[in-house]
Parts: sequence; C-alpha cells; structure tokens
Amino acid sequence: MVQDRIEFIREDIQALQDQGLYITIRTIGSPQEGWVTVDGQRVLNFCSNNYLGLANHPRMKEAAKKAIDDLGVGPGAVRSIAGTMSIHLELEKRLAEFKQVEGAISFQSGFSANLAVIPALVGRGDIIFSDELNHASIIDGSRLSRAKIVRYEHCNPGSLREVIEQETEFRRRLIISDGVFSMDGDIAPMDKLADIADEYGIPVMTDDAHGEGVLGRGGRGIVDHFDVHGRVDVEVGTLSKAFGVMGGYVAGRKEVVEWLRQQGRPFLFSSASTPADVAACIAAVDLLEESTELVGRLWDNTRYFKTEMKNLGFDTGQSETPITPIMLGEASLAFAFSKKLFEEGLFAMALGFPTVPRGKARIRVMLSAMHSREDLDTALGIFKKVGRELDVV
Ligand SMILES: Cc1ncc(COP(=O)(O)O)c(C=O)c1O
Repeated sequence: MVQDRIEFIREDIQALQDQGLYITIRTIGSPQEGWVTVDGQRVLNFCSNNYLGLANHPRMKEAAKKAIDDLGVGPGAVRSIAGTMSIHLELEKRLAEFKQVEGAISFQSGFSANLAVIPALVGRGDIIFSDELNHASIIDGSRLSRAKIVRYEHCNPGSLREVIEQETEFRRRLIISDGVFSMDGDIAPMDKLADIADEYGIPVMTDDAHGEGVLGRGGRGIVDHFDVHGRVDVEVGTLSKAFGVMGGYVAGRKEVVEWLRQQGRPFLFSSASTPADVAACIAAVDLLEESTELVGRLWDNTRYFKTEMKNLGFDTGQSETPITPIMLGEASLAFAFSKKLFEEGLFAMALGFPTVPRGKARIRVMLSAMHSREDLDTALGIFKKVGRELDVV
C-alpha cells in the first residue's frame, strides 16, 4: 500500500477539532449589505468590515463595469514589468490627496502592503518596536524583515519608551502600531507615538485598516483624527474594509513610496490589482470626498448601538470605534451566544482563544452605515433575548 504522505495534515485537523479551534466558515449567498443570506438564511449582518456600505454601492459597481469595458479584466503582469496601468497611478494620486501625504503606492491587499513595507524599511541588525496586539500581517511582515522584534505593552507610550531606552544595539529602528485594534476597537495613542518618534528620531508606521473611512474628517483616518499630519512616516491602508473593494496601499513620505517601487516585493513579484478593483476604489475616494454623510451615519449607528447595549447591561470593553466587542469571558459561552443569535436572525461572530486572550472571549459586532435604526432596534431586541436566556444580563 502507498504510504499516505499527508497523514500529518489529517492529524493536525483532528487536533484543531479536538481543541475546539477548528474554524467553521459560513457562506454568504447575497451582496454584502445590512441583511445577508448566510447558509441559506436571511440574517442581520454584524460581521462585515463594509463600514460604509460601499461593497454593493451603485456608483462603485458602475465604475468597475466601465473599467472592464475600457481596460479589460486583468493587469497582465506585475507592476514593475508591464502591469502598471494609468488607472493604478490615478488611484495612488487620489489616495495621496485624500490622506494629505506626499505619495501613495497601491498593493493587492492590506496584508501584502505590510509584507512589502516592513522588510523594505528594516532588516537584519535592525529593530522593530511593535504594539503587543498588532495585526497578524504586521507580525508576518516584521518576521519576514529579519529585524529584532520587541513588543511593548498595548497602547502604552510609557512601555514603548522603556523598550526604546533598553534596546540600544541596532542599525535602524521602526515603531509600528495598528491605528484601530481589530479585536477591541480601541485607538492607538498616535499623538503620543509621534512625540516619542520625534524625541528619539525613530520613524513611526501605523496600519490604519480600521481607521480608514471611519476616523478623522470624512474618514481620512487616524492621522487626521489626532491631527498629526506629517508626523507619521508610513500609513498602511486597506481598500477592502470601508472602501468596500479589495487592495491595500502605503501612504506617506515620497521617498518611502519611491523606495517601495524599487524594493516592495509584493509590488515587484505579484501581479497588480485588476482595473475593475482599482476603478471601484477611485469611486470610493470620490464618494468620500463628495460627502461625509456615510461616515456620519456610521458614527450615529455606533453611538446609538453602544449606548443601548450598555443600558441593557452588556460589557462593550474598551472600544471607541464601530468595532464593538461584547465581552462574555469563556469561549464556550461566546460560541453558544453566537449560535443563538444566528437562530434568532443575527449574524455576529464569536471570538475565542487564540484570536483573543483566554477568558476574554466575545462576540464582535461590526457596526455599519448600512443599518437602519429599525435594524439596530431589531438587533438590540435579539441581544436582550439571548442575553437573558444565557444569564449574561
Ligand atoms: C489591522 C489590519 N491590517 C491589515 C489587514 C489586512 O487587510 P486586507 O484584508 O486588505 O488584506 C486587516 C484585515 O483584517 C487588518 O485588520
């Protein structure tokens, strides 16, 4: 009999199942809107990063369709060889203007933007000061760089200062922090990080994936929120959350952008985003620049839902943004809670260890401009019912 060469995978999958860590992936059968069809059931959507409802916006779809008619469906090559089209450069110009920075460079995703920029800025013999709750793509980009990674306490400028003082053996240094933290919805103290960066002469980088389209004037992001324009050297963004499409970018100083065109490996060795994606992203910038209505609605919904959940007796943690954790403690309770929510017609994911620390399991609610007040009231009614049934409130 032929030896089964992938038996180890079967064993590892079984181990995940035994530990309750196996991820069950739900299938969406409708566009990303306030209500979605999940595994055939119509439910309220509280799982999406589609903060502004742009993923199925008529203007965005129109722009994508036109780009297909004008430019086709594929870029044909990696950007440095023959895949850079004028539409890619137009998006970069528009993003730089929107973010009020010197330049921007686009990538295929936010994840690949982090994999591109960190190894381009630091390498062996260098050091990265990283918030302990930074996103997986920052962690992977940092590991790829081969720089030493020193973690500081979450959102704690004092702790950052301490590790900077302790670590003196290095060539180059880099401070990296998420802007908005994706599991807790809290905001990095970017003004204080910029002060420390100035004081020690260290470049500072932020990943604004959940701040883009959410924080700052008209959704211009965390740098605008703290009014630290020109004091954050590198801003990574994603185009797959509030922008509603797909892609990522790095915005900031023109030298950083120029350097990434020479050294960013996902730019040099992976094909460019499609014309349709890029055109839709340009339409997203148009919509954000034309009106602050969607961002305003997102924040109205966020304030209303959070206040009412607190009134019902739920613990919404440290969140200051539309990412709203409903803290439940044990993972088994969080998973049971999510299941019951779904049975009642509400789709919100339970998160447990290892995604969040042990004993800090939660339901993560993602608020959006897509929901009407009636949707939010329906959701609050469901949370109240399930919370009582499971003795949480
Ligand atoms: C903080 C952060 N950075 C980067 C990413 C990756 O972005 P993308 O989905 O565009 O690859 C995410 C997505 O979950 C994120 O939350």
